[in-house]
Formats: sequence, structure tokens, C-alpha cells
Amino acid sequence: MKLENKVAIVTGSTSGMGRATAVLFAREGARVVVTGRNEERAKAVVDKIRAEGKEAFYVLGDAADLNFCKEIVDKTIEAYGTVDILVNNAGMLSMSPFRM
Ligand SMILES: NC(=O)c1ccc[n+]([C@@H]2O[C@H](COP(=O)([O-])OP(=O)(O)OC[C@H]3O[C@@H](n4cnc5c(N)ncnc54)[C@H](OP(=O)(O)O)[C@@H]3O)[C@@H](O)[C@H]2O)c1
Repeated sequence: MKLENKVAIVTGSTSGMGRATAVLFAREGARVVVTGRNEERAKAVVDKIRAEGKEAFYVLGDAADLNFCKEIVDKTIEAYGTVDILVNNAGMLSMSPFRM
């Protein structure tokens, strides 16, 4: 396993690429901190990781709020003692037709 004993924060991991990253990192041995705003989806990701025998927990909040960002790091250090990897993925992509 490539990430054994590593601690990874993956922001925006309640869906999409962040979710896939969180699940993959856990499979590779990392303890993973899942973040986002939607509790149902956050819990589903953590449940999936734990069902595979790996470790994870979630922290809910708005990534645009600096206090929430500090809370993620504080809770990670409290639970796992360190942060080895940060995947700063939270965000949204908005597409619209080009107009002249
Ligand atoms: N998909 C693409 O083609 C593409 C291309 C270029 C860049 N990106 C970037 O790659 C990242 C992931 O894309 P994706 O397609 O996998 O997106 P996605 O499925 O919509 O997932 C976005 C994630 O970010 C979280 N999130 C969004 N705004 C947040 C906020 N204000 N506070 C906390 N969490 C927030 C969402 O969590 P909640 O819903 O739980 O809040 C969700 O977990 C995004 O930053 C996107 O801009 C995507």
C-alpha cells in the first residue's frame, strides 16, 4: 500500500473526484478526513471507507470559511496527530454557453 500510516485531508470529498480520491487513499492505507457541507453524503463516504476496514471521519462546513479550514486541521491533529497530505479539492465548476 502506497499511503500506509499517512493522514490525508481531502476537501470536497462528499462527491465526485474528492470522493473517489478519499476512497482510493483509504484503500492505499491512509487515514482519511472527509469534508463537505452535505452530512448524508459525508456519512456515506465514511461508511464506505469503514466498511472496507479503513479509517475515516468527516468534518462538515463551508470551505470558504477560514475558521472551518482551521477546524478541519485541528480535528485531524486531535484524531490522528498529524497531517501528511492535503487535497484541496472543494469547489464548484460552473459552465455556461459563450455569448457575443
Ligand atoms: N469535473 C470537472 O470537469 C472539473 C474540471 C476542472 C476543475 N474541477 C474542480 O475539481 C473539483 C471537484 O470537481 P467535481 O466535479 O468532483 O465536483 P463535485 O462532484 O461537484 O464535488 C464538489 C465537492 O466540493 C464540495 N464543496 C463545494 N463547495 C463547497 C464549499 N463551499 N464548502 C465545502 N465543500 C464544498 C462538495 O461538497 P458538499 O456538496 O457536501 O458541500 C463536493 O464534495 C472542484 O473544485 C472543481 O471546480 C472539476
